Amino acid sequence: MTSTSVLENIEKYIPLVGDVNIKTPLAYKTSRGAVKVVNAAQMAVAEAYINGFEVPDAVLRSLFDTFMPILFKYFPSLLAPYDWVLKETDHLAEGSRDLMKLQYDLPQAMLNTMLGDGKLIYPKYSMALWEKGAANLEQAQMQMIDDVIEKLEIKDGDNILDFGCGWGCVPNYILSKFPNVKFTGINLSHEQCEYMRGKMQDPESYLSSERFTLYEGDLNDAFFDTKFDKILSIGVFCHVGNLTKAFQKLASFLKEDGKVFIHIITVRTPNNISSVYTHKYIFPHGRYWNFDAVPSHNKDLKTIERWYLNGYNYSTTFANWLKNFDDNQATNKQLDYGIEYAKFRRIWRFYLLWFVRNFACCNGEYNGNGQFLLTHA
Ligand SMILES: C[S@@+](CC[C@H](N)C(=O)[O-])C[C@H]1O[C@@H](n2cnc3c(N)ncnc32)[C@H](O)[C@@H]1O
Repeated sequence: MTSTSVLENIEKYIPLVGDVNIKTPLAYKTSRGAVKVVNAAQMAVAEAYINGFEVPDAVLRSLFDTFMPILFKYFPSLLAPYDWVLKETDHLAEGSRDLMKLQYDLPQAMLNTMLGDGKLIYPKYSMALWEKGAANLEQAQMQMIDDVIEKLEIKDGDNILDFGCGWGCVPNYILSKFPNVKFTGINLSHEQCEYMRGKMQDPESYLSSERFTLYEGDLNDAFFDTKFDKILSIGVFCHVGNLTKAFQKLASFLKEDGKVFIHIITVRTPNNISSVYTHKYIFPHGRYWNFDAVPSHNKDLKTIERWYLNGYNYSTTFANWLKNFDDNQATNKQLDYGIEYAKFRRIWRFYLLWFVRNFACCNGEYNGNGQFLLTHA
């Protein structure tokens, strides 16, 4: 027996540490019981803060910096707050309507200024690439999309589907580079679709060319009679609850020799993770798939290549968003969030501060982004 398998064998019987998926029933049950304590502690701290208990940012940061590395390295099972986080659930995309209300259909003046709203780079709510020396957020987002173009081998004339297209940032940038590429985007957020419809009327936007088609609708109901050369989905699969169903659907839209590119938040822990806080206040039903989840679902699509992008890139992106959020208080406080602004602000600052530290923790090696290139199985 190798030393790894001896360790795994012992780990099966010990609650809390290591891989929750291999535990004996008793160790599993004990681990899940301990999660309830962690959930309660997390909510007690977070809700004290969002209800007005003044804590300097530095204290919050040091709290995250102390606990997150320990949890990621030794107790990843405690980062799965609910049983559903650990496995596939029923719907391709989970909690769609709640998610739009709590997150994507929030006042766009707040989201757009936080994410950055440039002439070519529209708001992009996903990781920017900093490791190639970008000087600012806009440049880092361009470099991120250039990286996608290269890995997905996009070429002029491709017909591309953007599954969860946000504000149309990725289509707009790619259309600007390739005069004969066509894009179709699908998104359930009415507010983000309104933004794109505005750009589709603006002669300066590449979305106004005949080469961009927009569908406002749920990924669960997506249907296209065209087949695409390439499909990309960036920052969306944290809302996907069932990879098997998602890949079955994507495969049905893909040409025989087509390619799919999925870019997601991922964790290099044995199990998927989430948090009670983000589930309640930020991304209902969101989960961060473990780095092996996509390649191990290979019925309709198979992973032919994958890349891990260090969390430092996302930590820096979140730090820029936090700064933009803070710098735009004058505008932000005029907007209607359905709750008092002071509380909304603290809810979002807790999330942004936490994610800056989360992605930076353990030198970015545990919580980063994954990119997966897939073809028909
Ligand atoms: C994190 S954003 C990423 C957007 C874009 N891909 C980007 O990189 O900027 C996730 C996007 O998925 C969309 N989305 C989430 N769940 C959806 C669903 N069930 N149906 C359609 N769109 C959905 C959101 O509205 C949002 O535009």
